Amino acid sequence: VGKLTVPFFGEHQAGIETALQAHATFISFSLKESVDRPLFARLMRMWTSDMQLLSEGKPAMGDAAPEIASTPASLTFTLGFGYSLFEKLGLTHRWPLKMTHIPLYSIDRLESQWCDGDVVVQVCANDSLTLTHAVREIVRGSKPFLTPRWMQQGFNPHAGVNAGRTSRNIMGQVDGSGNPKLHSANFSETVWVKESSEDWFIGGTTLVLRRIRMAMDTWETLPPEIQERVIGRKRSNGAPLTGKIESDIPDLLAVKDGQPVIPTDAHIRRATTPRNIFRRIYNYDAGILADGTQDVGLLFATYQADVSQFTDIQEKLAAMDQLNRWTTPVGSGMWVIPKGLQPGEWFASTLLS
Ligand code: HEM
Repeated sequence: VGKLTVPFFGEHQAGIETALQAHATFISFSLKESVDRPLFARLMRMWTSDMQLLSEGKPAMGDAAPEIASTPASLTFTLGFGYSLFEKLGLTHRWPLKMTHIPLYSIDRLESQWCDGDVVVQVCANDSLTLTHAVREIVRGSKPFLTPRWMQQGFNPHAGVNAGRTSRNIMGQVDGSGNPKLHSANFSETVWVKESSEDWFIGGTTLVLRRIRMAMDTWETLPPEIQERVIGRKRSNGAPLTGKIESDIPDLLAVKDGQPVIPTDAHIRRATTPRNIFRRIYNYDAGILADGTQDVGLLFATYQADVSQFTDIQEKLAAMDQLNRWTTPVGSGMWVIPKGLQPGEWFASTLLS
């Protein structure tokens, strides 16, 4: 587990069509006022080199703890840019999307310390020491250029614990069944940008990260049959209420005793739209809130070629979804994810030069 690596170079950035690692840190940065395009380009060249070295199990330039670098544990970095970066660098004409921000939904109770950012990096690994070291190295290297804004840490089962199965979230549900499968045509169609006036964006994607708090104290008082009706799938194995196994397709038309088997306001019915998203989610456990309740939930990261794939679903869920009673979005942001790199290239070179 420790020696395994994920290729840094490729058509797409690593950390998206990559088997879910056990640990993730999302870190968001603000650009320092003095930093212009040439300086930002310098950071991109340095980060490209450091991220490549660390992903390959080698120390970063001037690594402060090179001993840790030799255990890459499937380390990946995924870099994204927010609209605010384009504003600060005078590049808004090069922003490749129609939408610049995720709208505010009626269900949102956003806390600014979990929102937005000029630059975001998702760092994932199957070892938490490796991950912390990798994050330290990129934060250290970025100091002259960026100020860290927030950091969010999440987890999934460790490598080998849940081999081959879809992970569960803290509510105990099997979560991820309806996702497009890695390396399928459906995945490619859902996630990767195929056409854009910006060449650095073709082969890229978009990231939406929502921090969603779970009200576990009230959720846990519900009988399992009610919890299953909230989602529309069984607790035991994630099968839809109309099926037997996880991979059965939910039958949204099925009726029993005059009532839909999957309720009209069940999460999976409301979340079903013609265009899917890829949910690469991590659980979080961030201690005790001021009201004495536990701060747990999902770092709900989704990747989609077009952000409207996400907003179409989120809009429907905000209007009606039983799950809203036990979940509250407290963080939100969206970023464009440039394409992957070939040896000798650096991040967003054609955008910045
Ligand atoms: C804490 C909040 C949430 C929890 C606990 C949760 C949980 C689940 C569970 C257990 C499933 C069924 C298994 C699966 O297909 O993965 C599911 C499906 C799904 N969820 Fe969520 N979800 C949450 C928030 C969201 C949000 C914010 C969105 C999008 C805006 C979303 C979109 C979807 C989609 C697209 C599916 C698949 C539907 C299908 O094709 O069957 N979920 N979710």
